[in-house]
Amino acid sequence: MTSESASSTTNPPAKPSGSFFNDLRILWHLVVSRATGNTHEERLESFYKGQAGGYDAFRRRLLHGREELFTKLPVNPGDVWVDLGAGTGENAERWGSRISEFRQGYLVDLSSSLLKVAGERIRDRGWTNISTVHADATKFLPPEGAADVVTMSYSLTMIPDWFAAVDQAYRMLKPGGVLGVVDFFVARKYPVDGLVKHPWSTRTFWTVWFANDNVFLNPDHIPYLQSKFETLELAQRRGKVPYIPFFRAPHYYFIGCKPLVENTSPS
Ligand SMILES: C[S@@+](CC[C@H](N)C(=O)[O-])C[C@H]1O[C@@H](n2cnc3c(N)ncnc32)[C@H](O)[C@@H]1O
Repeated sequence: MTSESASSTTNPPAKPSGSFFNDLRILWHLVVSRATGNTHEERLESFYKGQAGGYDAFRRRLLHGREELFTKLPVNPGDVWVDLGAGTGENAERWGSRISEFRQGYLVDLSSSLLKVAGERIRDRGWTNISTVHADATKFLPPEGAADVVTMSYSLTMIPDWFAAVDQAYRMLKPGGVLGVVDFFVARKYPVDGLVKHPWSTRTFWTVWFANDNVFLNPDHIPYLQSKFETLELAQRRGKVPYIPFFRAPHYYFIGCKPLVENTSPS
């Protein structure tokens, strides 16, 4: 199933108290401050450490489609869930009461500041089956050896070796296991049938805009995901960006299934 339409977030609005000052702080980190460091992990931490506390309130208005993805993902009691690039772990809230049914959930990230917020959330909620893991998404494997559900929410565009992260998700999933991805993207100039076309202005503007924050929009995410997983659902949409009038940034969500028979063809 594929679709494209404009969307605005269905998440609850940020708390009004102090939100303008929180926005100013986050905007400073997004627009003015530059990530520094010699490694990917150091650059992530330098980008996030000043905004970890106010991260969720701002990103609720920027990172569209997360609610819908998590509502639609098919999960079963006893499943092992891995969230790659989990950040503050806010997506764990999106399972609602289903979260208690996981055998185990792993919130994997390289930013200690964001994982600290995730750890506090786990303690506050009393989730005994969810844990944080400080690890690289391209290398993590759950101790169980395999996962039933893997999610990546706005993390692929921040992972330089994004194809290695998709490969790792594929590797850790059981045959028949489910992958859910939501992220920004730009279309290929000449997309195949079923994928949306974006004008030059969209492909150029958003690529440059997000690259400023080391968020790399890519026309190959969806084709690569579809080459490895059976597509259960794909939506290609646009959503508002706080403080940017008129323009809407493109995002997609993808729900795919690891084939029961391994796909061994070169991708
Ligand atoms: C835009 S944030 C999204 C966080 C969260 N998934 C959400 O939806 O709010 C991207 C996340 O990916 C993490 N990340 C980037 N590269 C990573 C890597 N190689 N391994 C693990 N996490 C990574 C960042 O630290 C950050 O938390």
